Amino acid sequence: METFEQREFPMRDEDFWSLSRIAYQHTGIVLGEHKKNLVYGRLSRRLRRLSLKNFAEYVALLESGNPEEFDEFVNTVTTNLTSFFRENHHFDFLKTTIFSDWVQSGRPNFLIWSAGCSTGEEPYSIAITVTDHFPKPKAVKILATDLDANVLRHARNGIYEYSRIEGLEKSLLSQHFQRDKQSNTVLVKSHLREKIVFNRLNLLGNWPMKKKFDVIFCRNVLIYFDKETQTRLVARYVDQLSSRGYLIIGHSENITRLNTDLEFVGQTIYRRRT
Ligand SMILES: C[S@@+](CC[C@H](N)C(=O)[O-])C[C@H]1O[C@@H](n2cnc3c(N)ncnc32)[C@H](O)[C@@H]1O
Repeated sequence: METFEQREFPMRDEDFWSLSRIAYQHTGIVLGEHKKNLVYGRLSRRLRRLSLKNFAEYVALLESGNPEEFDEFVNTVTTNLTSFFRENHHFDFLKTTIFSDWVQSGRPNFLIWSAGCSTGEEPYSIAITVTDHFPKPKAVKILATDLDANVLRHARNGIYEYSRIEGLEKSLLSQHFQRDKQSNTVLVKSHLREKIVFNRLNLLGNWPMKKKFDVIFCRNVLIYFDKETQTRLVARYVDQLSSRGYLIIGHSENITRLNTDLEFVGQTIYRRRT
């Protein structure tokens, strides 16, 4: 079988581990041995575009501190899989439990953060749930952040292939999306877009947000990090949550033993104890 060193763009072990180290230092994403094929596949497009001969040249380019290529590299190593109303039970919990908490609290405003929002399906699903089920939707604002500039651009544009929303209830489609039959796409209507601020943010870096959040969605992001990064990040989420705020994570993630300031309140849903 052809080795990585014999492929169109030779990739030596040391090149792969240099890329893995750079990704880890800047994004927290762990690229282990089993990701070699994926890294090769995704980055060979960059090498072709840049007319480079091998991965050693690509590593040298990144290490020379080329900011544009650095962003391209980051965009390439992230995995952005998402969908509207993914893990729907979280949206049910928002509707049933969290919204009734908020109504009882009598507070005037609420903030939700979608951390690692990818192409925007998650924050738009939150915005739809707020609009359709919270009695005072105007009181809720959503911050949506991601490190990958490409997915963030897509999220801001709010244009999706029709097939991405086809499975949603018909009433949701007409209320919240404008269909363009010619291009077979939909545009998210402005009442949803206005609820969301999209910003680029590396979860490993500084967080400029001064306000605390009532709910943080960080779903299917922690899974790419090692235990040390997960522990640090969850502690920062706890600090960034308002009193008795909620942290919602992805289906294959488990933070039960990572932080004692959180209590488990439902499937992959945690709440600040104080
Ligand atoms: C699989 S997607 C999850 C999307 C959505 N939360 C969901 O569950 O459907 C993971 C996202 O995390 C983002 N991500 C990875 N590392 C990050 C980091 N260090 N800072 C911010 N976002 C990051 C990726 O760019 C990607 O869009």
